[in-house]
Amino acid sequence: MKGIILAGGLGTRLRPLTLVTNKHLLPVYDRPMIYYPIECLVNAGITEILIVTGGEHAGDFLKLLKNGHDLGVKRLGYAYQEGEGGIADALKLAEEFSDGQKICVILGDNIIEGNVRKAAGDFFTQTSGAKLLLKEVPDPERFGVAEVDGEGPGARITGIVEKPSQPKSNLAVTGIYFYDNDVFEICKTLRPSDRGELEITDVNNAYLERGDLTFEVLEGWWTDAGTTESLYRATKLVAEGGANHVGLASTASAPLFAER
Ligand code: G1P
Repeated sequence: MKGIILAGGLGTRLRPLTLVTNKHLLPVYDRPMIYYPIECLVNAGITEILIVTGGEHAGDFLKLLKNGHDLGVKRLGYAYQEGEGGIADALKLAEEFSDGQKICVILGDNIIEGNVRKAAGDFFTQTSGAKLLLKEVPDPERFGVAEVDGEGPGARITGIVEKPSQPKSNLAVTGIYFYDNDVFEICKTLRPSDRGELEITDVNNAYLERGDLTFEVLEGWWTDAGTTESLYRATKLVAEGGANHVGLASTASAPLFAER
């Protein structure tokens, strides 16, 4: 399984902080934001990673991360997104890197307390389709929101709405997604939303329509860091509790997943 980190965008909600740098290079407590999604993947045993970025500061990712070996990454690739076409548009650039394998996609501003090793293992044994990680939040209208039918192992997602004004649940769709390789064909069928972007929620709903979408609820805290408030919150959460900080050297162990 390969890892894809989406780290493009203009970060307009964080201006003026993002006027002279990329959002994902801003500090979250003691590290640049991009370290956290890298650690999340490496902690799950996913060590072949592509970073998709864009804009004027793309070169700074290479300066900061180099070949990624210090962070436990075995193979680090970079892709450059022209323009601001949205998350699913950025994902298209990962098709060649994915090399026909399953992928774990993580948004570059998502930070978690725990790890996704179990979810990654579960998806590795899932024959096809996609898996989402959900998390209860107090402000679901800020996110993609999943409606879930039932409880326990039999529970299923019945609908996903992007930033609903009247959310049907408090379950946010986090920015950590597992997909089979069909995701690239699905991305090609998408049409831009009202905000002019190819939406990851439309990708997830395509898997839902196929009846090939599973989910797990994330344990431990989760936050994005794309607004002033959430960046501050992320910094506080990391400072108070640590995030993925379980000694990088020891997590750079043998990958969990063989090729494919
Ligand atoms: C994006 C997705 C949304 C998801 C969120 C998680 O929103 O569109 O479905 O819940 O990431 O961070 P954005 O932050 O781009 O507005």
